[in-house]
Amino acid sequence: MVYAALSKSSKLSYFLVDKGDNIVQTYTDNMTSNIASDPVSGNTQKDTDPMSVNNNYDFDTIVDRHNTHSSKWDKYKHQDIIPLWVADTDFKVAPVVQRAIEERARHGVFGYTSTDKERDQVVANYYQKKYGLHVEADWIVWVPGIVASLTLAIGSLSKQHQQVLTPDIVYPYLHTTPAAVGKQANHLAMTYAEDRVRIDLDALEKRNAKDARVMLFCNPQNPGGAIYTDKELSRIDSYCEVNDLILVSDEIHADIILDDNKQHLPYFGTSDYALNNSITLGAASKAFNVAGLACSWAIIANDDIRQAFKHEMHGIISEINPFGYVATLTALREGDEWLCAMNQYLRTNRDYLLEQINAIEGLRMLPLESTFLAWIDVSALNLKDPCGFFEAAGVGLSPGSNFNDNNFLRLNFGCAKSVLEEAVSRIKKALV
Ligand SMILES: Cc1ncc(COP(=O)(O)O)c(C=O)c1O
Repeated sequence: MVYAALSKSSKLSYFLVDKGDNIVQTYTDNMTSNIASDPVSGNTQKDTDPMSVNNNYDFDTIVDRHNTHSSKWDKYKHQDIIPLWVADTDFKVAPVVQRAIEERARHGVFGYTSTDKERDQVVANYYQKKYGLHVEADWIVWVPGIVASLTLAIGSLSKQHQQVLTPDIVYPYLHTTPAAVGKQANHLAMTYAEDRVRIDLDALEKRNAKDARVMLFCNPQNPGGAIYTDKELSRIDSYCEVNDLILVSDEIHADIILDDNKQHLPYFGTSDYALNNSITLGAASKAFNVAGLACSWAIIANDDIRQAFKHEMHGIISEINPFGYVATLTALREGDEWLCAMNQYLRTNRDYLLEQINAIEGLRMLPLESTFLAWIDVSALNLKDPCGFFEAAGVGLSPGSNFNDNNFLRLNFGCAKSVLEEAVSRIKKALV
């Protein structure tokens, strides 16, 4: 149960109490202190060390996700395995997002929910403010998930027997959605040059794309976390123009930037051709940890492509739920400060992990520019079942084979640093 109280300093405090009315968590504006128990070690934590509070936001406290039907945590229910697989973080949402959801929940009526120009304009404003790119509110189409949008895009734009170009090493649904709508996925060669996993553009430019109409793209790239540069985007754009391709750009990880000198650039900003021949898929789900609220947007500037996409939705795609809208729009409007702090926390985790993993013989973690998903080369260990090996050591990772590279494992470091430290110590115990 949550109680709220206004203090003398006019700060609103929220108290989370257990069934015995003991306060187990206090939130005061952006500050969080707690005495929650650590689901990994079972230890009870004291109030958060002020030194560990990052920019007034707390990412160190471990939130117990057991008994919340969390896909990530339920996979290893009743097993002593730290789940570092599926791509959601263990962080609580930004306090502004939490408050907006609570306010909407208090209304108590949750019927069918629609959008309007004002809501769509929030997304448009976000692209203007963040990237200096003009987006019309009319170009926004809301879809409960990005995977659904991949399917809709391929279904609406590809003719029968047309191939769908897609990166060879990528988030699995970019491989599987073409077949789901009766098309054939045609894999594009990748390069690991400079330790950045990305489409091999030299190979791409030599490739005949006559049989294809749609190309799928993942930027930032999952796995590997490379952010495509403007030069790389221009080469992809030229290739698409020469071959009359429509590019479907999955940019779900765009808000997670781990290097100060790196910047995500939405593909549609590359040229007029890109603007008029692309679908950009975005969401607050990864960066703001609201994937369970099922809300994403597609930006489609071209009227014909947008109408075809919308037509494909008919009778299949349900409306966005009210909490999805509230969380997403609040995150875009007011979440920036929290996002900066979260990115900073992820940077620290990334740096720690890079140092630790690369000091272990047989493991090699690639540096990453975006995402909270470390891509670790385990081929030197010659393991038959790499994922099983690390599960036996008490750490649950994603098999590289899911992304089409058996040599690697993916580790989700979107968690409290102490959880990461425990995972690293288990990995070391198994290997050192
Ligand atoms: C690149 C990429 N696209 C799409 C998704 C899933 O998106 P959604 O949950 O909106 O379908 C993920 C989730 O991990 C992802 O990493």
